[in-house]
Amino acid sequence: MGGACTFQGSQPVNRYLQCHELVLYKYLNHAKNSLVVVIIDFRIRLPRLYSNLSAFTSLDYVTTTAPSQPYGQQHLNEPLLDHRAGQRFLTEAFKVILEEVLCKGIDVNEKVCEWHEPEELATLLDLELRENGEQQHQLLQRVRDVAKYSVKTNHPRFFNQLFAGVDYHALTGRFLTEALNTSQYTYEVAPVFVLMEDEVLSKLRSLVGWAQGDGIFCPGGTVSNMYAMNLARYRAFPEVKLKGQRALPRLAVFTSQESHYSVMKAAAFQGIGTENVFKVKVDDRGCMITDDLSEKIELAKSQGAVPFLVHATSGTTVRGAFDPLEPIADICDRQGLWMHVDSSVLAQHMTLNPECNYVNVFVIRADSVTWNPHKMMLTGLQCSAILLKDTTDLLKRCHSADATYLFQQDKFYDMSLDTGDKSIQCGRKVDCLKLWLMWKAVGSQGLEERVDRAFAHTRYLVEKMKKREGFQLIGKPEFVNVCFWFIPASLRGKENSPDYQDRLSKVAPVIKERMIKQGTMMVGYQPQGGRVNFFRMIVISPQLSYKDMTFFLDEIERLGNNL
Ligand SMILES: Cc1ncc(COP(=O)(O)O)c(C=O)c1O
Repeated sequence: MGGACTFQGSQPVNRYLQCHELVLYKYLNHAKNSLVVVIIDFRIRLPRLYSNLSAFTSLDYVTTTAPSQPYGQQHLNEPLLDHRAGQRFLTEAFKVILEEVLCKGIDVNEKVCEWHEPEELATLLDLELRENGEQQHQLLQRVRDVAKYSVKTNHPRFFNQLFAGVDYHALTGRFLTEALNTSQYTYEVAPVFVLMEDEVLSKLRSLVGWAQGDGIFCPGGTVSNMYAMNLARYRAFPEVKLKGQRALPRLAVFTSQESHYSVMKAAAFQGIGTENVFKVKVDDRGCMITDDLSEKIELAKSQGAVPFLVHATSGTTVRGAFDPLEPIADICDRQGLWMHVDSSVLAQHMTLNPECNYVNVFVIRADSVTWNPHKMMLTGLQCSAILLKDTTDLLKRCHSADATYLFQQDKFYDMSLDTGDKSIQCGRKVDCLKLWLMWKAVGSQGLEERVDRAFAHTRYLVEKMKKREGFQLIGKPEFVNVCFWFIPASLRGKENSPDYQDRLSKVAPVIKERMIKQGTMMVGYQPQGGRVNFFRMIVISPQLSYKDMTFFLDEIERLGNNL
């Protein structure tokens, strides 16, 4: 690396100093008869000119900003980036990631989160983006800070979301995805992943029970659900693609009161309108009441709306409830409606353990299924698939726009391998890789074992909870969601007081604030229907043990008993 660079009117007189990445030259600028110092930053190959030698005293002056002066032609013959320096940085940064995120991040003696008020956090992070770049050691500190102040979702005491924990093979797939940085759309740029996506989707479909069909990986369950709505509408009204809303009557969608809010978003986004989402009543376990579904369908029709989609859920977001798929499928058959099953949360088809309610063989009767491996299957965000029973290329017909710069019709290979036009996106991450590598590593058996383990821990937690004073379960958990109120000693036996519900509603938020500020664990709470704030504990990560369950109960008591 190195070599002279010549500036017009200047001659190099002396190589002044050289370290690993920086070379300083002194020049005499004959035109101006002055001394010029040039620092070549070989990390990025940009020279900076300093006309006054006293302007810098140490290498700390050297930055990676764009040059303030024009520079010689030979610099344009060199790549702008210094890969060796970049790789050295990556190696160092990787050590930080391993240590801070993956070692400390899973250590129960370390905090789950490091709470700071937003203004304080902004100062600690020094977020401002400046004219000049920083040195490597400063950037490594930035990496450390980002890790330090971020929530450790891999931590065994992170129960806050429907994702948690880390699978190292999936993580390798995630790193590999980022390093390869390609897009899923054509065989040309993603030969490995076009074949891999096909294989993984076909495996997922076979677990649903479909020998054939279609599908695509989407950026999350919300988007998968949006696909289902769009496909259902297109099947019912294919002219919508060309003519838009004016080709449509008022449409009606049916989903349970406890389904995911993505149904509402999809209806708003697709111009169907949220008031055309008919919310079907649920029973006391949170499952759709199919008599009410039939009534709501008739109600919609009586209002002049045209029903086209029933959005059922296998594993609702809060209570983990399972809509009864067989009667729903019967209704959809009779009414000619698209049946979508949102099993975002699950890996339910991975196991056929008869003990578990979550096996629902009637999913086979659905037209489409949302499946989020980034939740219970631990692939990491994002990994979600919409699976279709359709074999008529509906996905492509509905979404294709035939971009000639990507999907040329005269390619030298089988153009059906260019699957990108099935997607509503253009560039698309290769989300199949993380799932494929993890599946290769542990096999279907390993995945089943994780699901069974999550159920075993859930059962253990529920049994322990039943024996502890102050914990009041909200129904028998159907899945790995354990919903409960914690009743502090001051409220026990006061159920009939007029302010009981009001006081109870304040318990979960205070406990949550305390746990976050102390960094000991994270668990979510919410009100739902007529119920005031209650906790939703999620038992997903395979790294959990009985000890973590006991810790959870002790910690809720510790944080909430004096309320
Ligand atoms: C039942 C259900 N569907 C859809 C989603 C949305 O998934 P995502 O967060 O991947 O968009 C969730 C998320 O929790 C969910 O619980």
